[in-house]
Formats: sequence, C-alpha cells, structure tokens
Amino acid sequence: MLGRLLAAALLAGLVGSAQAQPYPSRPITFVVPFAAGGPTDTLARILTERMRVPLGQTVIIENATGAAGSIGVGRVARAAPDGYTVSIGHWSTHVVNGAIYALPYDLLADFDPVALLPANPQLIVTKTSVPAKDLKELIDWLKQNQEKISAGTAGAGSASHVSGAYLQSITGTRFPFIPYRGTGPAIQDLIAGQLDIMVDQSSNSLPHVRSGKLKAYAVTAKSRLPSAPDIPSVDEAGMPGFYISVWHGLWVPKGTPKEAIAKLTAAVQETLADPAIRARLTELGQDIPPREQQTPEGLAAHHKAEIEKWWPIIKAANIKGE
Ligand code: MLT
Repeated sequence: MLGRLLAAALLAGLVGSAQAQPYPSRPITFVVPFAAGGPTDTLARILTERMRVPLGQTVIIENATGAAGSIGVGRVARAAPDGYTVSIGHWSTHVVNGAIYALPYDLLADFDPVALLPANPQLIVTKTSVPAKDLKELIDWLKQNQEKISAGTAGAGSASHVSGAYLQSITGTRFPFIPYRGTGPAIQDLIAGQLDIMVDQSSNSLPHVRSGKLKAYAVTAKSRLPSAPDIPSVDEAGMPGFYISVWHGLWVPKGTPKEAIAKLTAAVQETLADPAIRARLTELGQDIPPREQQTPEGLAAHHKAEIEKWWPIIKAANIKGE
C-alpha cells in the first residue's frame, strides 16, 4: 500500500513537472507532405531555420510523401495535439485534396490554424529543347506533339497536376501526367529532358530558369513577378485569366494548447518580418501576406473561403485521386 502511494505521488510529481514545462521544451517536427528539395520543403526550411530563434528549439523537417500530400497531412491529423507536430501545406493539400480524395481526416475540423504563409504563382516551364519561343508557339507545339510528350506532377490533385489539367482544358490538349512524390524530383527529370513540360511553383522552377536549365513561357498571375520581370504574365502571353496562386499555411492537430499556437504564430510573424527572409522569399516569387493575416484568424478565414470557391470547380472538373 505504502509502495503504491509512493508510486502515485512520484507519478503526480512527474506529470506536474511535465505540465509546468514551458512550450517548447523539446524539438518540434514540421511535416512536409512532399519530397525534399521541392517548393514546400524549401519554404519549410527557410522558415524553420529562422523560427528556431524565437522558439528556442530545433525544428525538424519530416518529409512524409505520397497521394498529393494527403499522407503527410494525415500524419499530423493523428498526432498528439501538443504543439510538437506541425503541418505545413498549401492550396492543394488543404483545399483541393478534400474535393478529390476520401480523406480519413477533416481538413477544417481536425486542425487548428496557426498562420497564413506566403503564396507563389506558377510558371509554365519546359525542357530547353522545346523549340517554342513564346506561349502561343508552345500551345501549337503541344497540339502537334501531345501523343509524344509528358508532364511531371506531384501526384493527382497536387498544385502542379490541377494546373496542368487546367492548361489542357484551356488549350484543348491531352498528354499524360507522370506523378512524383513532389515537384523537387520532377523538376530534375524535366531538366534532364525525361519530361517535357510542367506547371510548377515559381519557387521551384525560377532558379533553374535563371540558370538557363529550363524555359519559362508565362507566370500564372495578373502581373509579372518583381524578381523575374522578363517572364510575361499569362494575360500578356495569350492565356488571359489563367491565374493560380499557391498559398501556404501552418496547422496543428485540433485541441493543441492555445499557448503553443500563440508561440508558433509569433515565431512566424518574427520570421516573416526579417528583411533577409523577406528578400529570399521575394527572390523565389513568394508574396508575403500582411502581418494581420499571419494569424490563426487570417488562415481560418482564407482557408474556408478557398474551400468554398474551389470545391465546386474541382468536383465539376472530375479530377480523380490516386
Ligand atoms: C511540392 O512541394 O512538391 C509541391 O508543393 C507539389 C505541388 O503541389 O505541385
């Protein structure tokens, strides 16, 4: 009896001291739902490298890939709601996937929002040997070669896939999509000439366009990117209104303590206010949201509005998951 009382007292003491530990008292894991080296991974690494200063802890990146990011997002949905497992995702993982996959989690009900993160448009890019000099010539080339060519994507329903399918519907073309575990490895195959075309986030392809390893035909935005003024907007290039912006966000499992969420939000805000980080992100074509949107409320409102806008469009387009 005495032994049991002592054990209970010891356990209570241990639990008490664990509860008293301020967050974060150990490394935090960011689950990137795509392959290393791709756009989501790059953004996560830029942010976490700086976030660890205000957090006072290491942030580990875990690449949990597959099924257009839904494997990695599911891993966070099932994690303990303690602030130590964080989901970094974007428009396709947290909006599009809900319209095309029978997900074993609910994109709104199973997560608490932390902050809205930067958004980047996409570039229509090809391997360098494609002869087309501008977007109009590229569309003609696609029509003439659709039997022979292929496009890389990060899986059915990923941003690169949905935008590629949108490009096909506008141009009346049909070519196969080759799914990868992220556009990081896909872009390497495009550079090597094993793929022909991709509609890819600017943050992934722009460095390769600058170094002459890829050709860019247009940016999927109303205006040109300040960091890539030579690439025409889709309006200028002849595909008016083909706008796609891949916005990112940070979420934690539902029920995570408010104190932990507030610390993560503050770390995002400090990071996105840092001039060196802002310059790096702008160089990659990322647009940083205003500080008041880098909040749980900012992300919640944007996320809900995007689901309401895109689910009917994606469902009507009849895009199927893997
Ligand atoms: C990635 O990180 O590989 C991308 O976000 C994939 C995509 O959705 O196109």
